[in-house]
Amino acid sequence: MERRGFIRLSALGAVTSIIVPKTVLASTPSMAMAGGLYYTKDAPGRWSKKVGGHLPNISVSKGTSGTQIEVVTSHGMSGYEHYITKHIVLNDKFEFINEKMFDPTKDKSPVSQFSLGEYSGRIHVLSVCNKHDTWLNVAEV
Ligand SMILES: [Fe+2]
Repeated sequence: MERRGFIRLSALGAVTSIIVPKTVLASTPSMAMAGGLYYTKDAPGRWSKKVGGHLPNISVSKGTSGTQIEVVTSHGMSGYEHYITKHIVLNDKFEFINEKMFDPTKDKSPVSQFSLGEYSGRIHVLSVCNKHDTWLNVAEV
């Protein structure tokens, strides 16, 4: 019986060591994708000279109607040739909260405002350029 128990525990240990790395990887998707699928200030990847014009800047204000944020990307709106297509706001679990799509024939600059109500915690904000891909910044609200 003791030998069977030992074998069972050994098998459990082997299974656990296989599962753990996947669990750790799944809990940090932002780190695995930074610099590849999307870009950040610290992981600009192939767009290292494009940080200033693409990183979304987030301003937070709190009022009687809850939390408001303003997102500004310091990027030109050169018609459909080169522009910011949208801002996307996600919560701390990377779940969608809201987005603002831009029309380069009407919007002179990529600026958006969002009401977050009573939400508090980390937000992830994405700014998407039609040439220089998707950029992520975070804020605590
Ligand atoms: Fe761009």
